[in-house]
Amino acid sequence: MSWWRHAVCYEIHPRSFADSNGDGIGDLPGVTAHLDHLRHLGVDALWLTPCYPSPLADGGYDIADHAAIAPDLGTLDDFDTLTRRAHTLGMRVIIDLVPNHTSDTHPWFREALGSAPDSASRDRYVFRPGKDPDGTLPPNDWQSAFGGPAWTRVSDGDWYLHLHAPQQPDLNWRNSEVRSAFTDVLRFWLGHGADGFRVDVAHALFKAEGLPDAGPGQHQDPLRNHLMPYYDQEELHPLYRDWRTLLNTHPARPGACSPDDRVLVAECAVFAPERLARYVRPDEMHQTFNFAFLEAPWQARALRQVIDGSLAASGSVDAPVTWVLSSHDAIRPVTRFGSELRARSAALLMLALPGAVYLYQGEELALPQAHIPDDRIRDPLWERSGHTDRGRDGARSPIPWSGSAPPYSFTAASPDQCWLPQPPDWADHCVDAQRGDPRSCLALYRQALRLRRQYPATAQAPLRWHSAPHAPYLAFQRGALACVVNLGPDPLPLATLGLPGHPVLSSTPLTGDTLPPDAAVWLVTESGHRP
Ligand code: GLC
Ligand code: CA
Repeated sequence: MSWWRHAVCYEIHPRSFADSNGDGIGDLPGVTAHLDHLRHLGVDALWLTPCYPSPLADGGYDIADHAAIAPDLGTLDDFDTLTRRAHTLGMRVIIDLVPNHTSDTHPWFREALGSAPDSASRDRYVFRPGKDPDGTLPPNDWQSAFGGPAWTRVSDGDWYLHLHAPQQPDLNWRNSEVRSAFTDVLRFWLGHGADGFRVDVAHALFKAEGLPDAGPGQHQDPLRNHLMPYYDQEELHPLYRDWRTLLNTHPARPGACSPDDRVLVAECAVFAPERLARYVRPDEMHQTFNFAFLEAPWQARALRQVIDGSLAASGSVDAPVTWVLSSHDAIRPVTRFGSELRARSAALLMLALPGAVYLYQGEELALPQAHIPDDRIRDPLWERSGHTDRGRDGARSPIPWSGSAPPYSFTAASPDQCWLPQPPDWADHCVDAQRGDPRSCLALYRQALRLRRQYPATAQAPLRWHSAPHAPYLAFQRGALACVVNLGPDPLPLATLGLPGHPVLSSTPLTGDTLPPDAAVWLVTESGHRP
C-alpha cells in the first residue's frame, strides 16, 4: 500500500516553530534543529507552509518569488539541508504551492500595473473594466473570502480580481505563460528535494467564462459552494492530471522519494463529498483535506455522518480520506471542542480512522487558541472584517519548547520581539515538560502513532461500526483495533458494548471498565497484539 494512503503528516508553520538566530522569527534552520521532535513523535512526513519571499500581507500566502526562500526564513541552502536531514530521518517533505494568486509585489503584477488595459501583461491576471458605463462599479458581485468585494480598482480605471486580500491578485489560469511558469516552479522544488505539494486554494484557479455574478448568499452555504462561478470549474481536473504526470516522471534527487511516491494534496474547500472526491480520482491528486471533519461539532451523530460520507465518497474513487483536526487556519481543537480531554479524544478518534492524517504543530501539545492583543494581530481578516473577526493568529502563536515563561525557548529574543506573542500560562504545554510525562498529550499522540505502526494490517482494514447510528457514543472496529469515544453525558461501561480486546490507550486514565464522558479508548484483540 502506498505510504500516503495511511501517512501521518505534520504541518509546520515555520515562522512559529523555532527561531535559530534570535530575531524573534522562526526559520528553516530552526525546523532542521528540531526535527528530532517529529521523529520522536513518529510522523511520516512534514508539510511546510509557504517559505517564499513575501511581504506577509497574508502570512506568506502572498508570494513575490516562487523560486526562492524568504530571507527571514533562511536560504535555499537551508532548505536543502532541511530536506536532506528529513530524508535521512525517514520523513518526507511536502511544501506549499500557491497557484491561485501572487503577491501584488510580484514582478508580474508590477508589470501589469505599469501596462495598458488589455495588454499581455494584464492577461496574466484577471483585469476587467467596471460593469457600468463609467466603470465605477466592480465587474461583478464576487466577494473576497476575507470579506468585502473581490475587486480593486487601479488608477487607470481597470479592476483586478482578488478572491482573498487585495495584495493577492488572482492569476489567469487560461494564460499559457502562467501555466508553464508553474510547471517550472514544480520542477524547481522537486529538484530541491520536495516530495510533494500541498496546493493552496486548489478549487479556485479557474473562474467561469464570462465571470457571471454569484448571486446572494455567497460563502454562506458550504455544501453548495461548488456552484459558485469562482470555484470547482471543470478545467481544474486536466491541470491536476498534468501535474500528477509531472510528479510521477520528473527525476528524483538522491535521498528524496521515488517519483511514483510523490504526493499532491489539495486544499480544496469544496464541501459536497462527491464533488471533493473528483479531485482525488486515480490520475489526479492523491489527497484532499477533509474540511467537513475539521469543522464537525463534538456530537456523535454529526461526526458519524461526516465519517460515513467521507469514506463513501473517497471510496468511490479509491482514494484515502485525509483526516484533519487543526491547521494554521482553524481554531485549535482544545478551544473549539471546549476542553483538552475532548481534543485528546478527537485525536484518538481521528488516528483510528482509515486513511491519512494531518497534524498541525502544537496540536500534540494540546495548545489552546492563544489570545493575541489587538495591536499585535497580523491576520488581514482583522482589518477586512472591520475588527470583528480576530482572524487566525491565535492558532499561530509560537511553539513552547521549554522553560516556564515566554518565549519558552522558541527564540533567544525577548518575548516582545517575537513575531507573535505567546500566552504566559503555557509552561505545562512545553515540549520538554510533556516529554517526561507519560500522561501528557504529547505522550498520547506518540503512543497512538506507535500503535498505528505496530498494526500495519490495520491500515488496510475497513471500518465496521459497533455503535448504533443514534447512540451518544462512537464505537468501531478496524482489524485488530477498536475505538470507542464517549460523546454523551454519562459514563459508558465498556463491557456492555461486547467489544473484543483490551484497552491499550485512552485519552484519560480509565476508572475500571468505564469510559468517562468526553473520553476515548483504543482496544486491541490478543491475536492482533504484537508487543
Ligand atoms: C489557504 C491558506 C490560508 C490563506 C489562503 C489564501 O486557505 O491555508 O492561510 O490565507 O489560502 O492563500
Ligand atoms: Ca529567525
